[in-house]
Amino acid sequence: MPSFSLPTVLVTGAASGMGQACATHFLDQGWRVIALDAAGSAHEHPNLVAVTADIRDEDAVREGVDGALGDGSLDALVHAAGIFPTSNLMDFDRERYQRIFDVNVLGTLNLCRVATRRMSPAGGAMLLFASVDAFAVSRNQLLYSASKAAVVSIAKSLAIELADQGIVVNAIAPGWVDTPGTRAGGRLEAGIQAVPLKRAAQPEEIAEWAWRLCHAPGYVSGETLCVSGGVIVR
Ligand SMILES: NC(=O)c1ccc[n+]([C@@H]2O[C@H](COP(=O)([O-])OP(=O)(O)OC[C@H]3O[C@@H](n4cnc5c(N)ncnc54)[C@H](O)[C@@H]3O)[C@@H](O)[C@H]2O)c1
Repeated sequence: MPSFSLPTVLVTGAASGMGQACATHFLDQGWRVIALDAAGSAHEHPNLVAVTADIRDEDAVREGVDGALGDGSLDALVHAAGIFPTSNLMDFDRERYQRIFDVNVLGTLNLCRVATRRMSPAGGAMLLFASVDAFAVSRNQLLYSASKAAVVSIAKSLAIELADQGIVVNAIAPGWVDTPGTRAGGRLEAGIQAVPLKRAAQPEEIAEWAWRLCHAPGYVSGETLCVSGGVIVR
């Protein structure tokens, strides 16, 4: 078990894509990382503790994080775990609605509550993963877009609610990012045709912004930063 005298971040979705890149970036910066994912961990590192938990289950998340932290506390939360199945008005059913909103919205609330309880008395930073779809919706992303609009709203509300505890809350809204999750969806190549920069972001580029917004958020609070290669302004 690593010592927790170094700053400590809880990263979710850490087994894949942007969460994995964020975990690597914080490790490279000398932080301790608690890497939480339903799928276990993709990393092995002396400063990393893996927690396997489903973010829909607050008790499981809390037990996993408490066990990993011991007497330590958190300095940051990077909450990247999320899902993005397609849906539209005529094909969605209650099961799909429940799954998307339970993972993307309830999961976000669960992580924020667990992290708040274990945040350092000196305060800290939370970064939630929204999406450009929260602002500029895509065809067949009805429920996903709505769930990510909720994440944008949660970041605003918690920025107010947690300010007295010295906790800064922001969100990041990526556009097209080249991750295993995006590739599984099969829409990446077509999607980047509409991106002014004509490429997808690499997960490491998003991790760099996640690091900045947690390490030195300064006066930025309650904001959602779009990192989209310009697709948001078209
Ligand atoms: N990839 C993109 O282009 C893109 C664009 C905008 C926003 N986002 C958002 O960014 C975040 C990361 O996306 P990504 O492409 O890196 O994802 P990804 O699919 O590559 O990885 C997501 C990780 O989250 C984990 N996860 C999913 N559901 C979970 C649950 N219930 N409990 C615990 N872990 C769970 C998965 O096991 C996986 O390791 C997501 O919230 C996604 O909605 C992605």
